[in-house]
Amino acid sequence: MALVTSKAMFEDAYKNGYAIGAFNVNNMEIIQGITEAAKEENAPLILQVSSGARKYANHTYLMKLVEAAIIETDLPICLHLDHGDTFELCKSCVDGGFTSVMIDGSHLKLEDNIALTKKVVDYAHAHGVVVEGELGRLAGIEDAINVSAEDSSYTDPAEVEEFVTKTGVDSLAIAIGTSHGAYKFTAAQCTRNAQGVLVPPPLRFDILKEVSRRLPGFPIVLHGSSSVPQNFVKMINDNGGKMPDAVGIPEDQLREAARMSVCKINIDSDLRLAMTGSIRQYFSEHPDHFDPRQYLRPARENIKQIVKHKLVNVLGCAGKASLF
Ligand code: G3H
Ligand code: 13P
Ligand code: ZN
Repeated sequence: MALVTSKAMFEDAYKNGYAIGAFNVNNMEIIQGITEAAKEENAPLILQVSSGARKYANHTYLMKLVEAAIIETDLPICLHLDHGDTFELCKSCVDGGFTSVMIDGSHLKLEDNIALTKKVVDYAHAHGVVVEGELGRLAGIEDAINVSAEDSSYTDPAEVEEFVTKTGVDSLAIAIGTSHGAYKFTAAQCTRNAQGVLVPPPLRFDILKEVSRRLPGFPIVLHGSSSVPQNFVKMINDNGGKMPDAVGIPEDQLREAARMSVCKINIDSDLRLAMTGSIRQYFSEHPDHFDPRQYLRPARENIKQIVKHKLVNVLGCAGKASLF
């Protein structure tokens, strides 16, 4: 099996009310945890690399690790650039073997976003690579860019047809209230449940519905879709960490979005929390250990378990890999 694009995956996901998980990767253990989970659940996958991940791990190392995962699992895997911010970065990933790129012009004026996105689409399509664009701006932190809640903005459905028609993108990321990172909402934006845990404001399904009405059959992407599992936040806090009031997107709302037109759901922070919680707990329990294989093993296992849970209970894509 070679790397695939997300085209056929999105077509089937749209028709059958599920979404493909797009998980961020930075190193071998994360790639192994995700792909072993997908293998056990027979799920198609998007592995995505941010520019920060590419700087950290190096393009060739990541390519070779993903190639190794394909050999080991025989799964249909799409390799995607997450939040590409320049034409040059997108071109470099297309030239370097990625099968999908995102050009994120969401901070630009509509006409500039269209011009930049179209330039990337023209190049990518000429090389058999698909493109994700973005309209609307999520709050939170990505690649050291911190978008405050005040600077974030929901997607304006009135812009989506023009954007998709003029750029030729294959999928569109929209802002309906998700947010990057582990601190998605301030306490002031939330209510508290009986256990004192913050409950975030609901996603704007009205915007999603209007976007889908205007773009029938077109695949929509949700970024910032970690749910910030409270068991891992507790594991971190119980073992020397300090992550007060970290809160994410409720999984039932993501499942609902996947039943609608959302075909790709981006998850990174939940895997970071699983990894960090596992390592912190391991060091608390074994303060004398110093072999990375010892503390990375439970981290990889917990990444695998949380990805299995997402594939089955949130995304609904378990069992679909053999279709592609
Ligand atoms: O949306 C951002 C992803 O979580 C990637 O994060 O830019 O820190 O690698 P990063
Ligand atoms: P989270 O921070 O919610 O995991 O979002 C990841 C993401 O959107 C990557 O593009
Ligand atoms: Zn994102």
